[in-house]
Amino acid sequence: MKILITGGAGFIGSHVVRLFVNKYPNYQIINLDKLTYAGNLNNLKDVETASNYTFIKGDIVDTDFVMELFALHKFDGVIHLAAETHVDRSITDPLNFLKTNVLGTFNLLHAAKIHWADSTEGKRFYHVSTDEVYGALRLGEETYFTEETPYDPRSPYSAAKASSDHFVRAYQHTYELPIVISNCSNNYGSYQFPEKLIPLFINNIKQEKSLPVYGDGLYTRDWLWVQDHAEAIDIVFHKGKDSETYNIGGHNEWTNIDLVNLMCDMVDEELGREVGSARKLITYVKDRPGHDRRYAIDASKIERELGWKPSIDFETGLRKTIKWYLSNQDWLDNVTSGEYKDYYEKQYS
Ligand code: NAD
Ligand code: TYD
Repeated sequence: MKILITGGAGFIGSHVVRLFVNKYPNYQIINLDKLTYAGNLNNLKDVETASNYTFIKGDIVDTDFVMELFALHKFDGVIHLAAETHVDRSITDPLNFLKTNVLGTFNLLHAAKIHWADSTEGKRFYHVSTDEVYGALRLGEETYFTEETPYDPRSPYSAAKASSDHFVRAYQHTYELPIVISNCSNNYGSYQFPEKLIPLFINNIKQEKSLPVYGDGLYTRDWLWVQDHAEAIDIVFHKGKDSETYNIGGHNEWTNIDLVNLMCDMVDEELGREVGSARKLITYVKDRPGHDRRYAIDASKIERELGWKPSIDFETGLRKTIKWYLSNQDWLDNVTSGEYKDYYEKQYS
């Protein structure tokens, strides 16, 4: 099997690439990534010389390039993760999100349709998406996003992801492209770019910088260990039914302020500082425009039908994550300095 994984140099993608390269020695894994600020080949150092792994630098927005890539490689499967992913950036540069998330997804779908025209036997296009397409839930209510929840995207990021989900379903409905989609809650773990809440705050606590909590801090997210998401992606790719959607989540809701307080105390402990000192860094700042109040996933379908469930509890996962960021300062320095990008730009362009 020859599988194209897009966005494999990013946070979740690197965990998926690592899992597939190690678990499936008979597959050929092709990682296609543009290496934006969020893509970093240092995330994949441990698999880069594996004989079943190839990296290709390229942009999914480039229609001709994508078409040629499919002609050259004759992929059996696509696991599509490449995207612009940070909500705050989508507010300042929405067009970039439209291009990568919508047009980029469209290019991949169209190339798959053309190149699988003779037979779709054994083929699969897997689109990795987000729970943010469902909009926002109210705080304090026992309501969850299910696979039937109507789409109600509210940020440029989620609007672009929702649009790409619609194109994926349209290609199934119109052209019978064999597709599967999953919509996952917020991930945390190693190799996440330190602009997202958890790695940003761990890094800031370490450097004794302020911790900017947006609005009243009562915004709520459902956090999932990234390696559990990668396992779910493996299961959906291999066992999910064609045309189906699977919601993936951690049954693990935290208000931002409770999570930040927990992180503060854990980082204090890990650094041998007095517990309580990091909390003094918390600063309430102006809210994110259009900030979604609460996300929470009902993951019962994937649990029931495919037998997946999260493997570790949040406090264990968060502790591991904190230890990882504290002991990988070189990685953090590289991704924040842009040094890695200069190096790989030279090597791969
Ligand atoms: P990320 O920002 O860490 O990585 C994205 C990767 O895509 C990077 O390696 C980047 O270089 C690459 N990329 C961006 N634009 C590209 C382009 N035009 N062509 C080729 N490559 C390009 O993202 P992530 O957090 O790992 O998310 C991966 C996927 O999972 C995304 O589709 C995202 O919507 C989805 N998702 C993320 C979360 C989360 O909590 N992070 C939750 C649910 C779903
Ligand atoms: P983030 O990690 O950006 O993920 P998303 O917006 O996709 O859920 O943010 C998680 C939550 O943390 C979200 O409610 C916004 C909030 N947040 C802050 O309060 N301060 C910050 O500096 C960041 C980056 C996020």
